[in-house]
Amino acid sequence: MAILNIVKEGDPILRKTSRRVDEITPRIIRLLDDMRDTLHDAEGAGLAAVQVGVLRRIVLVETEPGELIELINPVIIESSGHQEEVEGCLSVPDVWGITSRPESVTVRALNRKGEIFTVSGNGLKARAFCHELDHLEGKLFTDDALRILTAEELKEQID
Ligand code: NI
Repeated sequence: MAILNIVKEGDPILRKTSRRVDEITPRIIRLLDDMRDTLHDAEGAGLAAVQVGVLRRIVLVETEPGELIELINPVIIESSGHQEEVEGCLSVPDVWGITSRPESVTVRALNRKGEIFTVSGNGLKARAFCHELDHLEGKLFTDDALRILTAEELKEQID
C-alpha cells in the first residue's frame, strides 16, 4: 500500500477522459487500496483515479468517516432536486466555490468483486458523487462553479 502523489490543476492529465475498467485485475485492486490510503492521508471526501495519474473510471467517495464507497465504471442513473453549496478539490488546493448540483443522486457501478450495485446519496454525498464523476470526463468544479469564494468569505467559513 502506498500514498500516491495527487496531481494538481495545470497538469493536462486532469483534462482527459478516463477509460472504462474492463477487467478487475490485481493491479486495479492495488490501485483501489492505494487510492484509499491517499484519500485518508489527504483527508478528502473523494478521489478519482485520474487525480493520481491513472486514466481509469474509478472513484472513491467517503463523506462519512469509515464509510468508504468504491465505484468502478460509475454512472449516474437518477438525480433530483437542486443544491448550491461550497465545494473544493484535492487537485485545486486552497480554492473553494459554490456549485450547482442535484440534491439527490443514485449511481450504478461495479464493486471490487466486479458486482453491479447502486448507491444513493443526498447533500454532501450527492455533491461528492457528481464532483468525482466529473473528474472522469476531465472536468473540474471550478469550470462551472457559480462563483469562487473570496479570501474574506473563506475566513468566515473557517471562523
Ligand atoms: Ni476533485
